[in-house]
Amino acid sequence: MTKYAILGFGTVGGGLAEVMAAQKERLAAVAGDELELGYILVRHDYPDSPWQDKLVKDFAVIESDPDVSVVAEVIGGVGPAFEYSKRAILAGKSVVSSNKELVATHGLELAAMAKEHGVSYLFEGSVGGGIPLLRPLSRCLAANRVDEVYGILNGTTNYILTAMDEQGQTFAQALAQAQKLGYAEADPTADVEGIDACRKTAILADLSFGGNLDPTAIPTTGITALAPADLELARALGYAVKLLGRAMRRQEGCLAFVEPHLVPLGHTLASIGGVMNACAIRGSAVGEVIFCGPGAGRHPTASAVAADIADAVRHRKDPMIPDLGKAGGALVPAGGLISPWYVRAMAEPDEVHAVFPGVKLIYGSTQECGFITPPMDEPALRERTALLDSRAALRVLA
Ligand code: HSE
Repeated sequence: MTKYAILGFGTVGGGLAEVMAAQKERLAAVAGDELELGYILVRHDYPDSPWQDKLVKDFAVIESDPDVSVVAEVIGGVGPAFEYSKRAILAGKSVVSSNKELVATHGLELAAMAKEHGVSYLFEGSVGGGIPLLRPLSRCLAANRVDEVYGILNGTTNYILTAMDEQGQTFAQALAQAQKLGYAEADPTADVEGIDACRKTAILADLSFGGNLDPTAIPTTGITALAPADLELARALGYAVKLLGRAMRRQEGCLAFVEPHLVPLGHTLASIGGVMNACAIRGSAVGEVIFCGPGAGRHPTASAVAADIADAVRHRKDPMIPDLGKAGGALVPAGGLISPWYVRAMAEPDEVHAVFPGVKLIYGSTQECGFITPPMDEPALRERTALLDSRAALRVLA
């Protein structure tokens, strides 16, 4: 019998307790031992909870119980989550987490501590929620030099973009709907400004290329400036608008950024709607593989964390620690990446063609036109769009 503890009793923590109970036997088979919920660390009282006898408010109770060998940190944020993770590792307990902010900012330190103390540190649920992604990337694709990782890594923004596209809503209307349905947080800043996708991109980049990128240094643009006209013109041009996190191998390091992109309608990522996530990995042997599924949510994220608990128990004598912080180059500026661009402008065809000869123009319901430029880097694009009354410019996934 192995005892585990859950830190946090929000959406994921509650879902984790449910999934662990519902799949007790299956998880025991994977773990090679029966798994017993020892404690759930809470901040508030939950008088109606079926786990009443497991709720504790003091982390020291968990920390000092030698029978607890795995701690699932699903609190989120850095503050207490970081402190409890460190204390759990120091107490000889494996830590599993779905906390992308903590993994992106302090994952390397926690992984080093876990190594030193002979315990596992796993965080499959931190990127892509329920999608099996990090283990396939690190293990199943071990025979590949990964050259690029890119994807739709945030469910809230994908929900908003889908609503803007399919229902013609403005950003504000779609955000309000996402909040009403419980997809977006009351403070949606981290999602809509691309910060959440950026943290996930940093984790994917580190596992793929090393370098332990500082997420705050990754150029990040969210979706708040997108207008319904962009979705309308993009579709007329044959594209869907998606917020993509991208990381690519470069000779001198890693190029990583988060930006809204135009994705060709024939590309798998264009068909990923609502809160779903999808991540493409380009490897030297396999070519391109795409993983997709629910990137957030109570049971999908719990699915990944529960499997981490079982793996941590199974690997008690041979701890599992993803290879973060491998030697890697510095962050390469994204502006030099050559891409076609979508431009929205208030301009007559001859004005556009004087700057971008031969581009095909589409006029939408706002009198503005949209077009796709030939491939060029960002400075070249900015130099030309400055000559027009251009209202938006987005990279096209080529
Ligand atoms: N806020 C995140 C999202 C939750 O919308 O994708 C999962 O990381």
